[in-house]
Amino acid sequence: MSNMMSKEIQLAARPDGEPKESDFKVAEVAVAAPGAGEFLVQNLWMSVDPYMRGRMMDRESYVPPFQIGETLQGGCIGKVIESNNENFAVGDYVNSMNGWRELYVTDGQMVNKIDPAMGPIEANLGTLGMPGMTAYAGLFKVAGLKDGETVFVSAASGAVGAVVCQLAKAHGCYVVGSAGSDDKCKWLEDVAGIDKAINYKTCGDLDAAVRDAFPKGIDVYFDNVGGGHLQAAINYMNPHGRAALCGMIEQYNDTTPRPGPNNLIQIVGKSLKLEGFIVSNHLDIIPDFYAEMAKLISGGKMNTEQTVEEGIANAPKAFLNLFSGANFGKMLVKISDDPSA
Ligand SMILES: NC(=O)c1ccc[n+]([C@@H]2O[C@H](COP(=O)([O-])OP(=O)(O)OC[C@H]3O[C@@H](n4cnc5c(N)ncnc54)[C@H](OP(=O)(O)O)[C@@H]3O)[C@@H](O)[C@H]2O)c1
Repeated sequence: MSNMMSKEIQLAARPDGEPKESDFKVAEVAVAAPGAGEFLVQNLWMSVDPYMRGRMMDRESYVPPFQIGETLQGGCIGKVIESNNENFAVGDYVNSMNGWRELYVTDGQMVNKIDPAMGPIEANLGTLGMPGMTAYAGLFKVAGLKDGETVFVSAASGAVGAVVCQLAKAHGCYVVGSAGSDDKCKWLEDVAGIDKAINYKTCGDLDAAVRDAFPKGIDVYFDNVGGGHLQAAINYMNPHGRAALCGMIEQYNDTTPRPGPNNLIQIVGKSLKLEGFIVSNHLDIIPDFYAEMAKLISGGKMNTEQTVEEGIANAPKAFLNLFSGANFGKMLVKISDDPSA
């Protein structure tokens, strides 16, 4: 097989504020046959994630910016369909950062095999992948959660938040989460089993809602949103409380800096610890993460939702949906059916 064509999504323009479909374009790229030591992968699933918005800006960060006219990158799961590499056989499922495209040729660097017996392969982009690992690292390594504490989680029904909520419940914690619809809040209470969910879009006064939900204060805040959520959390955090600052999606599309929380002085008086983190700096705890997740999944105590867009051309739409909350749980793009399943 040679010179197959791959549909790929490229950055057409750097988004100004809220990203729009015209910031992306679909390109057809010729993919050469794999050479010596290389193999050809057909992508089946790809992930869209909020952090990708940061890579669309031309600025220094912990990951380099995407370039205009180049194919985007991101987490994906594919199947090897042709191989000249002794470590990767035709039929192997692999995980890599070569998403936003249908096909790629690789020598195997930064490509890992995944075990389909572990569950649906796409779970490696969600609960068992980067978002799940982010939840675990933030909660236990960054915030140092202890059994029985009180925990507040923002964007609680999302890919990271839903795992945070259920890990904390499994450790006997009192858990309150916020989300942007009644359906998501119902799911959080009925399926994820948290103690209370706040619809931050309809509750009116978020600060009062957080205060009322935490009669004993907040020991740990897992921040996915920033802004008013962070300010409310600081107001009701207990002395020596900890916050894992995972993300601040509320401000990813801002074009001018927004005012910060007006209550940072409480960090001093209450001896709070607020710590930002990037999941890739905590890969040492992957074995602990898998062990804990296996226990919860086999006990039916880790439930997740996913929202799926079909086809690579709908990947930009899937990405945009992250900022309106149109996704429920992990947002995925199904690129192709499994060729031999
Ligand atoms: N530090 C790290 O290493 C790391 C790794 C992964 C993810 N993250 C961060 O973790 C957070 C969650 O990521 P995820 O992958 O789990 O995404 P997600 O929660 O599955 O999807 C994003 C959700 O954010 C909520 N949202 C969007 N705009 C909002 C706004 N203005 N105010 C409040 N909520 C808003 C929406 O849910 P609602 O309907 O509830 O509004 C949306 O569904 C993001 O901030 C992301 O950048 C950080």
